[in-house]
Amino acid sequence: MRAIVHRQYGSPDLLALKQVDRPVPDADGVLVRVHAASANIGDHHVVTGKPYLIRLSPYGGLPRPKNPILGATMSGRVEAVGANVTTFRPGDEVFGQAKSGAFADYLVMPANMLALKPTNLSFEEAAAAPWATTALQAFRAGGLKAGQTVLINGASGGVGTWAVQIAKALGARVTAVCSTRNVEMVRALGADEVLDYSTQDFVAGGARFDMMLDLVGNRSLSDCRRVIVRGGTFVPCSGGGGDWVGPMIRILAGLASFPFTSRKFKMFVNTPNRDDLLILKELIEAGKAKPVIDRRYLLSQVPEALTHVGEGHQRGQTIIRIAE
Ligand SMILES: NC(=O)c1ccc[n+]([C@@H]2O[C@H](COP(=O)([O-])OP(=O)(O)OC[C@H]3O[C@@H](n4cnc5c(N)ncnc54)[C@H](OP(=O)(O)O)[C@@H]3O)[C@@H](O)[C@H]2O)c1
Repeated sequence: MRAIVHRQYGSPDLLALKQVDRPVPDADGVLVRVHAASANIGDHHVVTGKPYLIRLSPYGGLPRPKNPILGATMSGRVEAVGANVTTFRPGDEVFGQAKSGAFADYLVMPANMLALKPTNLSFEEAAAAPWATTALQAFRAGGLKAGQTVLINGASGGVGTWAVQIAKALGARVTAVCSTRNVEMVRALGADEVLDYSTQDFVAGGARFDMMLDLVGNRSLSDCRRVIVRGGTFVPCSGGGGDWVGPMIRILAGLASFPFTSRKFKMFVNTPNRDDLLILKELIEAGKAKPVIDRRYLLSQVPEALTHVGEGHQRGQTIIRIAE
């Protein structure tokens, strides 16, 4: 089968399309014929090996990448199942987020990391959807409730476009921050108010929110505290912070300082799981959320796709078409 192979950290141009053996499912595994995957900023971090801390995580590896095939979020059709798998059968259309291996013709995943694909999405659209679990888990971490106000900084990217829609579905009032060219798109996703960061400063504006979801990390923690009401919550979910430990310093500073400020600091790490995929499936099938697709690439074009994603200005998500 074809696969995008990741042998060394560096530029996406170092990735290569190779022929490799098709994986075989173990007793709890599901072999999926991958129809589409999405290329996300997380994949870009894994390719570059930066921040360096990622090399110590299950996604990285030392001294070189330990997961030879790149790619995480995907959709496809079940080809075969292991002896213990009773939840899926060949032919089922599924979506999910793997640790790695999605930029390939076939992928084996644990059955409990997959769900049936939303019936109203194409494979390409469904490949984008698992990334939405980040937004869902961020609002869960922050305890967002109906009737509350939320500020979403970085509303036009892969997580942000889902976050706007999920916050609305939870019954919150949404203020979204994005660049000029994305204002109308973010408004159309349901944001109640949209601030264009090139002309409006969300801190200077003086508004206060029950929660701030930060997907950019471009403002100081004291600026972020200033826009949150007493008793409100800051949920950090951003890169930045340099090549070594990335956002870790900011997270430690937030954990140490927020308890003295009558505001909560709730960090989380996205944990893919079937229960959250099922919540998303329900939201999507009810018409309450949908993917925003920026560009589409072929499997052989993953280096170009990841170069685009790494520039940090994708509009929604970038899709890799795999099954012809
Ligand atoms: N904690 C976790 O488990 C977890 C999981 C997933 C993702 N993340 C992190 O979450 C962050 C967002 O991920 P993503 O997939 O949404 O990234 P993305 O698709 O690359 O989106 C980034 C967005 O940020 C916007 N942006 C850039 N500068 C901005 C500014 N000054 N103000 C407001 N928006 C700005 C860009 O929009 P414009 O083009 O309009 O500038 C772009 O749409 C990343 O740092 C990622 O690493 C964390």
